[in-house]
Amino acid sequence: MNTSELTASQRAIAKEDKYGAHNYHPLPVVLKKGKGTRVWDVEGKEYFDFLSAYSSVNQGHCHPRLIDVMKGQIEELTLTSRAFYNSLLGEFEEYITNYFGYDKVLAMNTGVEAVETAVKLCRKWGYLKKGIEPNKAKVIFVQNNFHGRTIGIISASTESDSRNEFGPFLPGIEIIPYNNITALEKALDDPNVAGFLIEPVQGEAGVIVPDKNYVYDCHSLCKSKNVLFIADEVQTGLARTGSILACHGYTAGIGHKAEGKPESFDEFKSKEIRPDIVILGKALSGGMMPVSAVLADDDIMLCIKPGEHGSTYGGNPLACRVAMEALQIIKDESLTDNAELLGRYLRKKLFQIDSPWIEGVRGAGLLNAIVIRAKSKDTAWNICMRFAEKGLLAKPTRNTIIRLAPPLVITKQEIDDCLAIIEETFMEYTEE
Ligand SMILES: Cc1ncc(COP(=O)(O)O)c(C=O)c1O
Repeated sequence: MNTSELTASQRAIAKEDKYGAHNYHPLPVVLKKGKGTRVWDVEGKEYFDFLSAYSSVNQGHCHPRLIDVMKGQIEELTLTSRAFYNSLLGEFEEYITNYFGYDKVLAMNTGVEAVETAVKLCRKWGYLKKGIEPNKAKVIFVQNNFHGRTIGIISASTESDSRNEFGPFLPGIEIIPYNNITALEKALDDPNVAGFLIEPVQGEAGVIVPDKNYVYDCHSLCKSKNVLFIADEVQTGLARTGSILACHGYTAGIGHKAEGKPESFDEFKSKEIRPDIVILGKALSGGMMPVSAVLADDDIMLCIKPGEHGSTYGGNPLACRVAMEALQIIKDESLTDNAELLGRYLRKKLFQIDSPWIEGVRGAGLLNAIVIRAKSKDTAWNICMRFAEKGLLAKPTRNTIIRLAPPLVITKQEIDDCLAIIEETFMEYTEE
């Protein structure tokens, strides 16, 4: 077909296909504009965004306060590298450490870099403070985790797409089942274990909510064995699960609609813990630029000395300015309360949809998922395509799970509008 006969969307998709690496499989929607909970494609069609750039735009697309501080800072100073001090890094460090109650922060850019940073910090602490013999330190991960895509981090992955033909992998890693406290207890018998790294709710795995006391019990076990408890809150943090960190306790719901058996729905509040290391990213800039951070107390953070870790862009003044505003917006607009309240409402309403395609509903705050009773590997994808036709963007994860994670600025009226789209789609959906 002549390219002039293609729609603007088709042209954009064809260009990506021709010139870009094929490392993603996006829904065929080409976005051009965003505001709050909505995005528009190049043909001008409006959608509710129910992915939020994998929980990065918690504050909503193009938040006016973020645009203002960004514009102001761009005209002043954007990057100095850490060869020199800059006037905003200390201010940001003071702000974020007070916000979360830790002694120190280490600023990076992407989520995976922050996870790598946490692992390095943990190993260093293991040698310097726990007295582990050189090169023997181990970090425990759990099955079905997602912490990013570097060689180091995929070494801890159990996903074949992440790992296949990318080996050899990093040593010093042990992978245990998720939501299994006995497995952790056993793994912690090894005195070379320096840390345990976990997502309090697994996002990419399909919004897997563990048992109510699991994270709390893991934390207690780690404390008793002098092992660092490291929370990857890149996706669950910053109000997404209805508290500022999921580790501070989240309100979750798990509902099963198993065929031929009674339905069950359980809402609960998890207990609060204070991780030794917290990893943040994504919404730390509200979608403006990559900003990530690792928080820890002096005993851990000061194990890393000048020259031992860093990043050219990490802690740049633009990122610092934007991150402080992004965090302040979460407080000023009560996004934690909104996520908790509307998350509970959304789950309840989703669970009431009477469709043979729905096997379950689960989630915490506004990080939720519908588990699809799939007839084929395309069922969840096809349902997402129908959502898109009706003006709602969501994407399947792990084939049969549809994650629903709107910006946290969403209103109850908008949730109702989206529920109407979701229900209508399920009612109409058929598959040969
Ligand atoms: C829990 C978690 N950790 C780390 C990452 C990696 O973040 P990034 O893509 O910014 O490297 C992600 C990304 O989805 C994530 O969900």
